[in-house]
Amino acid sequence: MKIDLSPQIVDELRRGAREIAARAYAPYSNFPVGAAVLCDGAVYTGANVENASYGLSMCAERNAILNAVGHGARRVDAICVYAPTSLPVTPCGACLQVISEFGPDAPILCCTDDDGAEQRFTLSELLPAAFRLKK
Ligand code: THU
Repeated sequence: MKIDLSPQIVDELRRGAREIAARAYAPYSNFPVGAAVLCDGAVYTGANVENASYGLSMCAERNAILNAVGHGARRVDAICVYAPTSLPVTPCGACLQVISEFGPDAPILCCTDDDGAEQRFTLSELLPAAFRLKK
């Protein structure tokens, strides 16, 4: 179900993503990322957490979604990802697959410190023909 995002909710998501990025554990890449997801009016956040065994690192988007699901949410209505870059970053392929599971209709807001650089995507723009077993 698509929802209209009020400017207040968008602000809350941006702020949540930006604030949680400060808690990222990214000693290997020095690339902190924060994400905030909206689920039935509640906002859940997550930051990237890396590991010396690089492949075990977890992205901000998945941490935010798994945090929401762990709190009982089952549908993501919107997602916002923040990185301190001049151009906004988009979720990686693994995160897109997880977004496909819980928020196939969720707008994906990609923001930076420069509000003018923000970009908004749909999942089907970033992951057309996503693999899905259920509707
Ligand atoms: N990363 C995220 O958390 N989200 C993204 O959208 C892109 C990449 C993380 C993974 C890794 O910890 C660091 O950023 C560099 O790739």
